[in-house]
Amino acid sequence: PLTHEITFNVGRKVLDPDGFFRRVWTVNGQFPGQEIHAFQNDRLKVHVINNLGDEATAFHWHGIFQTGTPWYDGVPGGTQCPIPAGEEFTYDFQLLQSGTYWWHSHYFAQYVDGLAGPLIIDDPQDPYFQAYDEEFIVTLHDWYHTESSELIKNLMKPLQAGYAEPVPDSGLINGRNNYNCKLAPVGTKCIPNNSLSTFVFQQGKRYRIRIINMSADDSFDFSIDEHLLEVMEVDGVLTKSKQVTTLSIDAGQRYSVIVKADQIIKNFWMRAEMGIDSTDKGVNPHIRAIVHYEGASFDKPTTQDWVNKTDLDPMTLQPYFSDPVPSPVGTQFILTIDIRLDANNYTKGFVNNSTFKLDLDNPSLDRAIRNLSIDGPNANVYTFDKPGEVVQVILQNVHDEDHPFHMHGHHFWILGTGEGLFDKNNATLNLIDPIKRDTQDVPAKGWLVIRFVADNPGVWTFHCHLEWHLEEGLSLQFLELPTILKTFKQPETVTSLCKSNSNSTNAPT
Ligand code: C2O
Repeated sequence: PLTHEITFNVGRKVLDPDGFFRRVWTVNGQFPGQEIHAFQNDRLKVHVINNLGDEATAFHWHGIFQTGTPWYDGVPGGTQCPIPAGEEFTYDFQLLQSGTYWWHSHYFAQYVDGLAGPLIIDDPQDPYFQAYDEEFIVTLHDWYHTESSELIKNLMKPLQAGYAEPVPDSGLINGRNNYNCKLAPVGTKCIPNNSLSTFVFQQGKRYRIRIINMSADDSFDFSIDEHLLEVMEVDGVLTKSKQVTTLSIDAGQRYSVIVKADQIIKNFWMRAEMGIDSTDKGVNPHIRAIVHYEGASFDKPTTQDWVNKTDLDPMTLQPYFSDPVPSPVGTQFILTIDIRLDANNYTKGFVNNSTFKLDLDNPSLDRAIRNLSIDGPNANVYTFDKPGEVVQVILQNVHDEDHPFHMHGHHFWILGTGEGLFDKNNATLNLIDPIKRDTQDVPAKGWLVIRFVADNPGVWTFHCHLEWHLEEGLSLQFLELPTILKTFKQPETVTSLCKSNSNSTNAPT
């Protein structure tokens, strides 16, 4: 196994991903963030240098279990103190999994300002290796022309005082789009007809396309005109292959598809249709990129969207390697999730009637290791302490919006999902061959049942991956195997972060 030593120089730069110029938060001056590509069992050392000047940061490795290294999970107040402006910190862990992952800041909504990138881990034994010739990464973003700290200000206002959930201005494929600059406010800079992302295909070749939704809020319907998508991986888990024309991908989720360049030599549209909210304020939800066959002209594609669509139903996907559902259930949690007004007219997220909030400078994990309680009024702690026991979680969404929930530290088996109130006598659960993933939607006014095994000591957040809902407190933490956790020893570099001057760890203002 190799050790990959990477430096993340975190700063800001004025960029125009969609033609509109704004400050973008960057790693090594780049947006979208650089791809990290490694083999399974390699070691990753990321040396973060916080050059933001006035803001702290912390990086999460979305989908990585951090077994034995829970302090590198990157959650400020959860697993570490934030990295103050002007300071450095090194993440150092082994990549025991394989598949498509991503990294992003977990400090407030910093990733929405640009701090996110792909993390790809290859398994030399991947049974699909022979099934494709080359690969591409497709990152999807909803994109805001206003900095996230401004957006959060309106999110944190009481209803009558100007509360507003952020609405994206556009969307990006691999960091590019064409904004209608006529809509840009006076005094701003915008250049129309920015170039779109282009993927070059060679006729006859097969491509693995890894799609990562890095959005703050939006889901996307992804397709390529006249090209079938053969789904073979979700969130790092290989599936039996399944052919579709379109797939819907929620914030935080990933898919790999194999696409054959089996059409005539010309240009084709790649489409990412933004879901929900975006249309109502004149935002163009039709995000495009170009698939250019080598040898074709550079004219704009004239291809049409699929007429007869076969949309992926992710619940019908089957794991490539059989991975039986663990039972019997040892501990069960029933979680009622909601977004509603609190007593003071603030819009808040609730898990079993409690809004989540972390103390940034007093991380839960540090307290758990030191045998101190991590419980408190907004701590939303759910504890299980028997190694190997099966944990079942029933999520009941009483809110009228979807909530894609992401679990840190685990993949979970998805047993079932449905509309209305969960009723164990009438619910259909797949106990035979469900897939596992790390991010799954809890449907509006509906339910989701998942299972996982208590085998990863740590403090793991489980939250709605819609960033605005996370800011509103739609989250909880699992305290997993605290008895074993007490025997863990954190590296000096992690504990010393909490001792550094904490006045730069304040919320962005
Ligand atoms: Cu993608 Cu808690 O994160």
